[in-house]
Amino acid sequence: MQEQVASLDNLKIPHHLAVIMDGNGRWAQNHGKLRVSGHQEGANAVRRIITESAKMGVKELTLFAFSSENWKRPALEVNALMTLFVKAIRQETLHLLENGICTKIIGDKNRFPLILQKQIAILEDTTKDCNVMRLNIAANYGGRWEILKAAKTLMSLPQERRDNLDEEKFSALFDIPCDVDLLIRTGGEQRISNFLLWQCAYAEIFFSKTLWPDFGKDDLLEAFTFFSGRERRFGMTSEQVRNKGLQ
Ligand code: FPP
Repeated sequence: MQEQVASLDNLKIPHHLAVIMDGNGRWAQNHGKLRVSGHQEGANAVRRIITESAKMGVKELTLFAFSSENWKRPALEVNALMTLFVKAIRQETLHLLENGICTKIIGDKNRFPLILQKQIAILEDTTKDCNVMRLNIAANYGGRWEILKAAKTLMSLPQERRDNLDEEKFSALFDIPCDVDLLIRTGGEQRISNFLLWQCAYAEIFFSKTLWPDFGKDDLLEAFTFFSGRERRFGMTSEQVRNKGLQ
């Protein structure tokens, strides 16, 4: 037990954690249920992971809830997801406020039903001054869409600012300017699926076989243990990293 606590003490916690929550459909199938039940159970896992991440000291958490491509799913599933988002936001807004979690939805919100847009506005406004952890929920989001959006913003800036552009200034044009330290994908697939393409340039990537609805504290600890064992070199040699004390 003592050993476990000591190793928890040595755990490195990513500043910015991003998660591709995959496997809701397969979870439902495995349990002989409709896909929508998988998403409902997935919403419980979302609550768990937000709470655990904040407790463990993550400062920014970005969750991929709905991609720009997910509109192609059967209308029944898309509608059920929209209803679930409205319900989950309604239920969780107060809890997020009480826990100091500043929450933003990133993605093109215009295509969402008005009721969802309204609920999002309430959530963002209610939690805007919270400072324990930032929570970004990516919905109707795509990494290429986001890069294109930043490029369009850039084109509208005065010539002088465009001439002085560097990576840091370009990052500042994104809804999420902060680089990702650790990206987790659940459900056994090994791809990035157009998620945070700009921000994941130097992310460590942990692929978990656990289906999202089953993902819990132990899985998170496993991912953080993996992260703690990584040497993040950012293009340098191991020796340079050690000398700079970056690890
Ligand atoms: C991917 O699993 C999951 C989604 C497309 C939806 C994610 C939604 C939730 C986790 C529910 C609630 C979220 C919030 C933020 C309240 P999949 O359906 O592609 O699974 P499969 O690969 O097994 O079919």
